[in-house]
Amino acid sequence: MRVLVIGSGGREHALCWAIAGSPILDKLWCAPGNPGTAQVAENVAMGVLEIPSIVAFALDNQVDLVVVGPEAPLVAGLADELAQEGIPCFGPSAAAAQLEGSKTFTKEVADAAGIPTAKWERFDEADAAREFIRRRGAPIVVKADGLAAGKGVVVATTEAEALAAIDMIMEEKTFGATNTAVVIEECLLGEEVSLFALCDGKHALLFGAAQDHKRVGDGDTGPNTGGMGAYSPPPCFPPEAQEAAMASIIRPALAEMAKRGTPFKGVLFAGLMLTDTGPKLIEFNVRFGDPECQALLPRLKSDLLPALLAAHDGELHFFDLRWDDALSSVAVVMAAQGYPGDPKRGGIIRALDQAAAKSNAQIFHSGTTQDADGTIRAYGGRVLTICATGKTISAARDAAYSAIEKIDWPDGFCRHDIGWRAL
Ligand code: AMP
Ligand code: GLY
Repeated sequence: MRVLVIGSGGREHALCWAIAGSPILDKLWCAPGNPGTAQVAENVAMGVLEIPSIVAFALDNQVDLVVVGPEAPLVAGLADELAQEGIPCFGPSAAAAQLEGSKTFTKEVADAAGIPTAKWERFDEADAAREFIRRRGAPIVVKADGLAAGKGVVVATTEAEALAAIDMIMEEKTFGATNTAVVIEECLLGEEVSLFALCDGKHALLFGAAQDHKRVGDGDTGPNTGGMGAYSPPPCFPPEAQEAAMASIIRPALAEMAKRGTPFKGVLFAGLMLTDTGPKLIEFNVRFGDPECQALLPRLKSDLLPALLAAHDGELHFFDLRWDDALSSVAVVMAAQGYPGDPKRGGIIRALDQAAAKSNAQIFHSGTTQDADGTIRAYGGRVLTICATGKTISAARDAAYSAIEKIDWPDGFCRHDIGWRAL
């Protein structure tokens, strides 16, 4: 098979790494990719939103499957454009990608399908939103309705914080002039986990669970990020509980999407809060998590590629994925100083090969570039994910951190407590 992966993050490096090991793979490309994906795939210089170029490339190169990493091209209709040309895509249509693209849409689907979730209300008017916040009081959660690169959610512990979020989203229009509606929600308490399911429009196949670490600092302090590390499986969310959440959350969502004429194909990522009264949906994403994907894939024993194809073909009910249940994995993100604000760019990263060779760790690239002489430099906020497996979370964590110690990158930092909730 000839496969094109879309994206350039650690998630896409991990996807390329897994797909590259498939016995049915003939050729693998990644667009735009990064220096890490270049080790296992051929990078193609196309941006993830250059939809006509991606479609043309797939046609010209007889691509059998396009695997889309990030949400933006899905929300923009990449899967639809590929379908028009008869090119199979792993990832939902634009209509189904609204599960991530719009918080209101997700809440409506959840309510229609009877999925447990926080009580919510949507506001287009700032005064009405403020009035609601004053009436309800804190803690309360304020979210920009549209895509906001993971930064549009404020979990306000005081009324003042909630009101400031209204100013930011609705008056200052921080997330864009057309992204000024807010969803205000009841604040859920509990441990947060990420649940993944491959979906073929009708059937859903559990793809495991992981726990992310969203805050930048040790002990869950500091601002939110895209994710500073993840581990899998989370002991707080055992396999029976994962199956229960498939039944109470994933399958009802899938049935509701099918009923609406917009069946969901791809990976459905449910952000869940494990509350006293059971798991509740915080949000859906229509893609793999980053860094959850890097933590999950090293535990997968089955070939990933046929499963992705089956999700497109509507044949997941014939599938049974094998996981290495005896293994835990820990994925630690190294970011550039300044992240999640303005990260320091250009710093040289040395000794990656030695770090990988001297440990059982996988090093996935995200924000790196490579000079003509092979020098690797930091280029973005999250730069590397170092992922190791072990018989226990603590063994996996030790292996990941011992690999990190060997990496020579003075401008880089990581959290030192990935997996702490499990330990
Ligand atoms: P979201 O972008 O919707 O995933 O929200 C980002 C983060 O905000 C989540 O990962 C949670 O940690 C937190 N969050 C979102 N909604 C709620 C809620 N209703 N109650 C408590 N925390 C929430
Ligand atoms: N790590 C969370 C996400 O990918 O959205």
